Amino acid sequence: MDRTNSGVSGLDELIEGGFPRDSTVLISGGSGTCKTILASTFIYIGAKDFNEPGLYVSIEENVKNIEWNIENFGWDLKRLQDKNMVKIYKLNLNSEENIEMQIKAELKAISKIVQQMNVKRLVVDSTTAFAVWIQETGKIRSLLYEFTDELKKLGCTTLLIAETRGRRNDFSAFGVEEFVADGVIALYFSPPNRSVFVRKMRATNHSKNVHPFEITSKGIQINPRDKIMWEAIK
Ligand SMILES: Nc1ncnc2c1ncn2[C@@H]1O[C@H](COP(=O)(O)OP(=O)(O)OP(=O)(O)O)[C@@H](O)[C@H]1O
Ligand SMILES: [Mg+2]
Repeated sequence: MDRTNSGVSGLDELIEGGFPRDSTVLISGGSGTCKTILASTFIYIGAKDFNEPGLYVSIEENVKNIEWNIENFGWDLKRLQDKNMVKIYKLNLNSEENIEMQIKAELKAISKIVQQMNVKRLVVDSTTAFAVWIQETGKIRSLLYEFTDELKKLGCTTLLIAETRGRRNDFSAFGVEEFVADGVIALYFSPPNRSVFVRKMRATNHSKNVHPFEITSKGIQINPRDKIMWEAIK
């Protein structure tokens, strides 16, 4: 199995060395569980240490906020952006026009960037944000299904971020994302403990435990040798 190093300290040890190359992995968790930090680490370290161009698609947060998140750890994002190794792209949706058509157009724009930059790592932050534009759950589900299906055709290792209510058995907001994805990684914050759990990872004998992690000045650090009781997560 060809694998992509996640770039996240301690994570690869939980998943037999990395994400299956070109797979789609859902990163789910409640607000403030470090989904954005994990996904931006995947993009930044991927470009810096593994020479893999990365595209970070933000649906609701502006580009500055994502950049700030990365530069906060003293990382030189600008250099990688100048070398065309990292791009942060804000999806441009507006509520006045037909949302399906806008999403189709954005998929084309994403696909073009992927080709131009030879993108190997893709992040979509977050799929939950679609709900801002679409009220009907059935419509969101089918759109999300089509959206992820199109992304899969791009041949990148993709992290989809899903914001949940943060309970231990919540893995997605609409119930579709966790089934379309090849892997699901749940992040939890039960103060003062942060933890991570690999719910599934196709073709991988992954850890079945919940592992603690910390955010330090160097970024996210998972401790693969330590574990937390499942019952300790609210
Ligand atoms: N330098 C740091 N040191 C310690 N903790 C930090 C640091 N930077 C960020 N954090 C923690 O990370 C949290 C934010 O993480 P992040 O933005 O990745 O969460 P998220 O899951 O994407 O949240 P949201 O649902 O709001 O998008 C902060 O609330 C803070 O607790
Ligand atoms: Mg976030």
